[in-house]
Amino acid sequence: MIFLADFTTFTPQNIAMSYPYQIKSFEEYKKAYQKSVEDPESFWSEIAENFVWKKKWNSVLNWNFEEPWVQWFEGAKLNITENCIDRHLKELGEKPAIIWEPNNPEERTRIVTYNRLHKRVCQVAQMLKNNGVKKGDRVCIYMGMVPELAYAILGCARIGAIHSVIFGGFSAQSIADRLYDANAEYIITCDGAYRGEKIIPLKSVIDDALIGNRSIKRVIVYTRTRTAVSMLKGRDVWWEDEMQYAEEQVEKNGIVSFPAETMDAEDPLFILYTSGSTGKPKGVVHSTAGYMLWTNYTFINVFQYRQGQVHFCTADIGWITGHSYIVYGPLSAGGTSVMFEGVPAWPNAGRFWEIVDKYKVNILYTAPTAIRSLMGFGLEPLQGKDLSSLEVLGTVGEPINEEAWHWYDEHIGKKKCPIVDTWWQTETGGCLISNMAGVTPAKPSWATLPMPGVQPILVDEKGNEVTEKDEHGLLKGNLCIKAPWPAILRTTYGDHERCRTNYFSAYKDLYFTGDGALKDENGFYRITGRVDDVLNVSGHRIGTAEVENAINMHAGVVESAVVGYPHDIKGQGIYAFVIDNNTHGDEELTRKDILQTVSRIIGPIAKPDKIQFVKGLPKTRSGKIMRRILRKIAEGDLSNIGDTSTLLDPTVVDDIKNGKL
Ligand code: WT7
Repeated sequence: MIFLADFTTFTPQNIAMSYPYQIKSFEEYKKAYQKSVEDPESFWSEIAENFVWKKKWNSVLNWNFEEPWVQWFEGAKLNITENCIDRHLKELGEKPAIIWEPNNPEERTRIVTYNRLHKRVCQVAQMLKNNGVKKGDRVCIYMGMVPELAYAILGCARIGAIHSVIFGGFSAQSIADRLYDANAEYIITCDGAYRGEKIIPLKSVIDDALIGNRSIKRVIVYTRTRTAVSMLKGRDVWWEDEMQYAEEQVEKNGIVSFPAETMDAEDPLFILYTSGSTGKPKGVVHSTAGYMLWTNYTFINVFQYRQGQVHFCTADIGWITGHSYIVYGPLSAGGTSVMFEGVPAWPNAGRFWEIVDKYKVNILYTAPTAIRSLMGFGLEPLQGKDLSSLEVLGTVGEPINEEAWHWYDEHIGKKKCPIVDTWWQTETGGCLISNMAGVTPAKPSWATLPMPGVQPILVDEKGNEVTEKDEHGLLKGNLCIKAPWPAILRTTYGDHERCRTNYFSAYKDLYFTGDGALKDENGFYRITGRVDDVLNVSGHRIGTAEVENAINMHAGVVESAVVGYPHDIKGQGIYAFVIDNNTHGDEELTRKDILQTVSRIIGPIAKPDKIQFVKGLPKTRSGKIMRRILRKIAEGDLSNIGDTSTLLDPTVVDDIKNGKL
């Protein structure tokens, strides 16, 4: 079959090249902010005019947070890949869309132009279609950081399939749970992935996840590491074969095309699983039009992106940061995005700086964890690396301590690059609170001001707005948002009630972020961290309940309680208090067994840093674990445990204190 139809009639609009909605001064920011709050509909519809639509909207915004129910650009039709690729082809066809840096610096770099990206995405779309994937189907993607991962994501979007990327650090059991929850029938994976000196056998993990599974119809396997894999007849196919076949279908007489499916503004674009305070990860669902607008708008404004700049976001596409600021944000802006397969400190700790030098990176966006761990190697890895191309630096994922901020500023930005501290979440789709590089003021370790369209509010436990300043003149409370921005999550997959109770029921008519924050006299926000039972380990979100469930699966374990503690590099470490039945009498071995169990159930990223065996846990008379006490102990704040008189057995506290690791 040939699909030439759409492309010949599609006229790329020459609009991606300038960004009329890029804010250029603090004054402009204030004006834009005010307008976005007073008249969000005209504010966002003017911005939306800069995108390619198959049909314009009937209304801009309908919502109520009670259900919750949010609709942006109701009635509009579009395909996000036409906005990320097709519209750039005329002007930018031969410009790099993706610059790929392999794990091993000795290996060849790959530069993917917009023309090439277009062709590959059309091929993937055709390949998916050939394999039975239809609009609305869920496709699970479990791949390493190779350009094919971006092709896979965009190929899904091209045909309207919902992608659900799973980070390579999750175990077979985690994958199986997510496949089941998303009701996925298709998987795209790799034989293996390179991560530093390691090879992660992705296909083999998928095989374990699929033991007993009857719903998966097709597994498409891209060859990266030449790791031996088992290919099940009738279910598993090779990416290379399928893509070659599809190539003949999408390319005729030198013209490449695959019609982009017509999607509703509110059709789901993807699902991304994230941890909450319950034991079960939830599938955050993002929409098409709102998410597109938001990632584009924030990319252009926060980083002050200019056409031709090279943007390097070091995140993995398995997390939201990679979705929004490696793929959708930069590509929708016609930008050039660096995609790095490897890890920061292999084969040496100068890897990031080498990449900055090699590709003349202008914008570097990374996590405080990475900065802190690279700081630990001193300045030697910076020797001989030319970082003069850098213009903007960014951080994301966790609060950045001042020491790391200043190191980043001094040694990487050479005190001439604004640093943007971007606060956001999987659920928010893109940055909500952040300074704009060189345009709005920065303040070390403060995320500062909300983006246009974002209305934060700090509330107390009862949901009343906090108005009383503390001794430092700051307001302190739980961070909520009053009204929807275009990329707010729409639901949690398959369980809308869960979305409601999780985010919209704590405080009436507010979206609750789960974070605590401070606000200063300038209206700047500083995010202080989670106020729920969610940990932030190296910028990765992990639920304490999830880790406890995994630990409790181990045969020797009676009960456990998990809390976070300050960790110099990771931000937070995982501290587990475990009651075991001590049957095989070897603590060290039991510890290893528990780590192995957590690795199996969740994945290596959730392994506790410390496991302390205890005889009892501090419980109230009603049986509730007093985490406050455990947190104090884990933090090492032993003299300041607080009131223990309401405990069923206060003596357990001394036992635990004495055994502290
Ligand atoms: C949680 C969201 C945002 C993409 C990566 C993480 C914390 C995020 C900051 C920041 C302080 C931050 C919050 C938030 N967080 N950015 N700039 N300063 N804390 O996404 O896995 O959904 O985690 O990360 O606690 O709730 P996520």
